[in-house]
Amino acid sequence: MHKRIFLIAAAAFLSLVMAAQVRVTSPGTELLLDAQAGKELKVIYFGARLADADLLSVSAAGTCGCNAYPAYGMQCPSEAALGVTHSDGSLATELLVETVSQSIENGAQITRVRLKDTVYPFYVTICWRAYQDVDMIETWTEIENLEKKPVTLTRFDSGFLPVRRGEVWLSHLTGTWANEGRLVQEPLNAGVKLIKNKDGVRNSHTSHAEVMFSLDGKPQENTGRVIGAALCYSGNYELRIDTGDTDWHQFFAGINPDNSSYTLAPKEVFRTPELALTWSDEGLSGASRNFHKWARSHKMAHGDRLRKILLNSWEGVYFDINEAGMDQMMSDIASMGGELFVMDDGWFGVKYPRITDNCALGDWQVDPKKLPAGVPGLVECAKKHGIKFGIWIEPEMSNTVSELYEKHPDWVIKAPQREPVLGRGGTQVVLDLGNPAVQDFVFKVVDDIMTENPEIDYIKWDANMAIMNHGSQYLPKDRQSHMYIEYHRGFAKVCDRIRAKYPDVTIQACASGGGRANYGVMPWFDEFWVSDNTDALQRIYMQWGTSYFFPAIAMASHISAAPNHQTFRTIPIKFRIDVAMSGRLGMEIQPKNMTPDEIELCRNAIREYKEIRPVVQLGDIYRLVSPYDGLDMASMMYCSPEKDKAVFYWWKLETFCDQHFPRVRMAGLDTDKLYRVHELNRIDNVPLPYEGKVFSGKFLMDSGLEIPYGHTVDYHKQNDWSSRVLYLAAE
Ligand code: DGJ
Repeated sequence: MHKRIFLIAAAAFLSLVMAAQVRVTSPGTELLLDAQAGKELKVIYFGARLADADLLSVSAAGTCGCNAYPAYGMQCPSEAALGVTHSDGSLATELLVETVSQSIENGAQITRVRLKDTVYPFYVTICWRAYQDVDMIETWTEIENLEKKPVTLTRFDSGFLPVRRGEVWLSHLTGTWANEGRLVQEPLNAGVKLIKNKDGVRNSHTSHAEVMFSLDGKPQENTGRVIGAALCYSGNYELRIDTGDTDWHQFFAGINPDNSSYTLAPKEVFRTPELALTWSDEGLSGASRNFHKWARSHKMAHGDRLRKILLNSWEGVYFDINEAGMDQMMSDIASMGGELFVMDDGWFGVKYPRITDNCALGDWQVDPKKLPAGVPGLVECAKKHGIKFGIWIEPEMSNTVSELYEKHPDWVIKAPQREPVLGRGGTQVVLDLGNPAVQDFVFKVVDDIMTENPEIDYIKWDANMAIMNHGSQYLPKDRQSHMYIEYHRGFAKVCDRIRAKYPDVTIQACASGGGRANYGVMPWFDEFWVSDNTDALQRIYMQWGTSYFFPAIAMASHISAAPNHQTFRTIPIKFRIDVAMSGRLGMEIQPKNMTPDEIELCRNAIREYKEIRPVVQLGDIYRLVSPYDGLDMASMMYCSPEKDKAVFYWWKLETFCDQHFPRVRMAGLDTDKLYRVHELNRIDNVPLPYEGKVFSGKFLMDSGLEIPYGHTVDYHKQNDWSSRVLYLAAE
């Protein structure tokens, strides 16, 4: 082994690294740094794990030679990750390596490179956590001011990565409320590609803070080299890809600095959120599998715990909550085999009963007229039906029509000397989570409910408003630009307290639908509500996009009514079930309005989902035919890690006469294993020709199975929808 190459020994002690080359490695991914003391920290390489032999000569092969964390001021024309106004007014920063250390913490390799400014006592420590059980490297920075006076941070990215130009394509997500997680794939050309969020509270309705770079031309699902990146932050973010006059795309990711310049007091350390980076040479699906494995093992709550099948009351009864209605819904979901009932909005408010969306947020006392026996009565009722009970809250918010607002108008976010800008219902306001008193209040909302009802199994935590007006009534005049950052520090503190006291409760991150699908949120939350749009057809597109970065176990996916309440599309129950079963299955419907046939199909689907649940929720994803490719169909599958079980999905998106779909080749199976095929949720009068037949993994992946374009059902049951779910079990 070459002397200059540092290889970390897997020991739980801190070692000071004297060498120039520093390896940051997870099993298949490597970041190689040039970290000579007194010199700039440089990126030598990022990609597949290097063989020892290549370490010697990799620099000679040609590298970016880029500064690993470019600061503004001494190379002005280049884009920078860090912008600082020093205490004497200088805008120039120049950082050189002071020390390097590596250690093992909780099984992960931690690398810390401390950089010092050449003039000022101003330091930046760049940190990497390289997991040893999954292919993911997280990076963040710790910015420390040891100057005598405050400095101002005007930009403070979490990380920077050069990506070699060539035929590089970017995959990322865009959308809006009711259409979240839409996949966009585009070649990276000259100029700046900016992906950002400024909502203040939620951050994934529109753009997402995750991207994938396909390095070998137009993105392929199961082949080609891919770099994946996810900024783990619950607040405003900015991802920039600057393609200028060099051979490298320059990728920066961090907190959005817009209106957020940060005054760093002497001795204060500013820690940026983590940027997670992965590498795969198995295409986009390969990078997704890395994200999913990392999420389930390290970056979401209870990633290894199978989720319950639930009924949520929202689309069934909206605000019309009462004891008899809740009892009926609980009875119905229990009779279909469901395991949990969640009472959504509308259960609270004494002085201002929550009968619609314009009052009572903040007044988290049960409405005694609607629910005389209170929440304990409902928990008992759930027990009677043999299921668990969950409850909806929106604890970061209030309404101007509420007892909370009457008591604490000073707790809401609003611009000084101006009336607050109001949101939902014409009365909603955002509480100032940067204020410790508000943090205590929000914690107490959860604590009170859980203390009164320790058996509550699930909390749906909603957030239905952006920060509309800039102003913290808590922060001093000269710290107003800290508002967004302090809000999310407050959010993190409250979540930490809740999880310390209630580690087991399942918590869903909902935010007007899919506003909080982000790895800055997931460590405290078990799942997110993908979208307020439950239309099965549109869900295929949204869940497809979301699956790039988030595992099925995190994606709440519910069977809802027809016509759909958002799109008014009428989709038969079979198709609605087949889509919902590709995520964390639930229901969002009034069961008493369903036909006996529909109830029976759902009962059957719930029973079958219980069989496939471990494969869907803990398995490996393989996307096969994209709904975005314009082929009028989509197909994907999940395989168990052992490759002994798999679930294959096929959905027809459009119906035309003389239509010709591709025969879908499967992926992710074991070529040598033999799989018996069984159709789930069958509605056809006759079984598929291959029902119960055995095929080799090789055949299924080389050739695949013909999927009929329609269903053989009685004439009066025919319609233009078609979908299939196949279960494959190795012999
Ligand atoms: C928005 C959420 O996304 C919905 O699921 C529902 O909980 C409503 N809020 C309730 O007001």
